[in-house]
Amino acid sequence: MVFVTGGAGFIGSHTCLELLKAGREVLVADNLCNSHASSLERVERLAGKRLSFVRVDVCDREALEKIFSEYDIDSVIHFAGLKAVGESVGSPVEYFSNNLGSTLSLCSVMRAHGVNRIVFSSSATVYSGSFGVPSGGFSESSPTGECTNPYGWTKFMSEKILSSVCVANPDFSAVLLRYFNPIGADPSGEIGEDPEGVPNNLMPYITQVASGVRERLTIFGNDYDTPDGTGVRDYIHVSDLARAHIKALEFVEKNTGCEVFNIGTGRGTSVLELVRSFEEVNGVAVPYVVGARRPGDLGTVFANVSKAERLLGFRAEFGIRDMCRDAWNFQKRNPHGIK
Ligand code: NAD
Ligand code: UFG
Repeated sequence: MVFVTGGAGFIGSHTCLELLKAGREVLVADNLCNSHASSLERVERLAGKRLSFVRVDVCDREALEKIFSEYDIDSVIHFAGLKAVGESVGSPVEYFSNNLGSTLSLCSVMRAHGVNRIVFSSSATVYSGSFGVPSGGFSESSPTGECTNPYGWTKFMSEKILSSVCVANPDFSAVLLRYFNPIGADPSGEIGEDPEGVPNNLMPYITQVASGVRERLTIFGNDYDTPDGTGVRDYIHVSDLARAHIKALEFVEKNTGCEVFNIGTGRGTSVLELVRSFEEVNGVAVPYVVGARRPGDLGTVFANVSKAERLLGFRAEFGIRDMCRDAWNFQKRNPHGIK
């Protein structure tokens, strides 16, 4: 059975759906600090299959110990974590203790129970911006570190923890997936991104402007060295990202050691291009103003995805228009979220 921490969240719920569709047995552990158990009920309905769920804090080593004794777990996908970049600057202790505490508790309990396979949610944020973006995009061997916020450091350090565990235990297998910018929602519109309060990220902000919850989008700078001056990112449909986890799971089942993979599309899209696609595909207006740059933002971030294509056999299938359509479909069907 696959133990999925943080499985009730945005990326976790989509991955649970893909796991069930692939015939996997799934046990979700989530403390619901940023999600609702109803997302898992929806996943079960969409898949026509059941999963198991325990409400637990993954930092709680004793609770994990009990779970690993009760269930027949053979691999772990570790999504659980706090992820708001800005919030992490004001609450570093909470971010380090939650994001590193959960990784360390898991490693310790996995060792005690001889569970040697893990897929970890890392982030493109670990790449160091000061050398510029290589012409082919960030590759897995691009320099990392120099993170600009505690959240980024928790990903950097969790990667170090897991790669060190692989060195100590030759039977251990870890895949570190560096996600670029996951957006969109399952095409059913049943599960999706459901942020509390003011969204930090672009796509949930756009959907809230389009639905009238917020008046207008502020574009953070139009003076970057990009074709239209606005920031360029590598957006990936969350259902594609979810499928990448199935490939990663197959990989840890066949290999030992630590491997890092970028998960993106390999294509950059600017803020203005995303806004225009959203308006065009969905026939709605997204009023915006141009404001100052957001501190810490890079102009261009996109992935070199050749390693994931070559070794995982993963390639994203959905395009920007699909992402815009599905994000809006989810917002329309769930104007008050999925609680
Ligand atoms: P999310 O907040 O929707 O999901 C995270 C889940 O983890 C939530 O359900 C939350 O309740 C749970 N959780 C947090 N701390 C926990 C703990 N100590 N014990 C148990 N459950 C806990 O976020 P998401 O967008 O689905 O992100 C999943 C993972 O991917 C995170 O680790 C995040 O840092 C990483 N990531 C996300 C993005 C992105 O843009 N969404 C990009 C790169 C990496
Ligand atoms: N942006 C705006 N207005 C907004 C929000 C965002 O113009 O209201 C712009 C940003 O300046 C950036 C682009 O939209 O150019 C994307 O911003 P997001 O906040 O959606 O995404 P980021 O690329 O900044 O960060 C995301 C995740 C991080 C992760 C990182 C990895 O939020 O957790 O991708 O690249 F670390």
